[in-house]
Amino acid sequence: MNKEQEKYLIEMEKYAREKNIPVILDDTRLFIEKICAEIRPVNILEIGMAIGYSGAVMLLASPEANITELEASEPNIRIARENYKKLGLFNRVKIIAGDCLNTLSNLKGEKFDLIFLDGPKGKYVEILKQLLPLLAKNGVLLADNVLFRGMVADGKPITENRFSYTVCILREFIDRVTKSPYLNTKIHHIGDGLAEIRLK
Ligand SMILES: C[S@@+](CC[C@H](N)C(=O)[O-])C[C@H]1O[C@@H](n2cnc3c(N)ncnc32)[C@H](O)[C@@H]1O
Repeated sequence: MNKEQEKYLIEMEKYAREKNIPVILDDTRLFIEKICAEIRPVNILEIGMAIGYSGAVMLLASPEANITELEASEPNIRIARENYKKLGLFNRVKIIAGDCLNTLSNLKGEKFDLIFLDGPKGKYVEILKQLLPLLAKNGVLLADNVLFRGMVADGKPITENRFSYTVCILREFIDRVTKSPYLNTKIHHIGDGLAEIRLK
């Protein structure tokens, strides 16, 4: 990453915080960079691109990689395109617009070394079913926000009713990925909770 890219990433993060666009937190960024250095992904998939901040972090930490981005918000897509252009990364990005529950089927048969799930939290269980066949043998699936403001851990009260559905889904998601005999899963208490999932 050169100095200009580093500077532009800081501006992107600042813009996101000002506009209340929930991009990854600093400790999550550091963790993702560590995973990229470890597995050196070539094909990356992200569900929930927003303005391209986490996508840019992954590309800049993975010099050989391309990324496929699934994103539903047209305004976010417009901003992300500009950001990727300014960072000189646009030729490494493929953006698929629309609801990921529909667009994921376009990827059937493809394999990804790194998948970052950061889209609609209330759909994580449904999305997981479509994502696992896309994960390469030695790949890593990271899912963000799985501890959702501290409300997901067993026994923790759900402090706001409007989140109760999301919290139930995230509890089911964690249950599935930690109890599956086919998966090795670690739940990291960084950011808003990050699941690291690998195939056994
Ligand atoms: C938490 S933000 C992503 C932040 C980004 N990963 C980052 O850290 O820079 C979630 C994004 O998911 C998108 N999203 C929500 N529901 C979606 C859906 N059903 N299909 C595709 N994208 C969706 C939202 O528009 C939003 O941009």
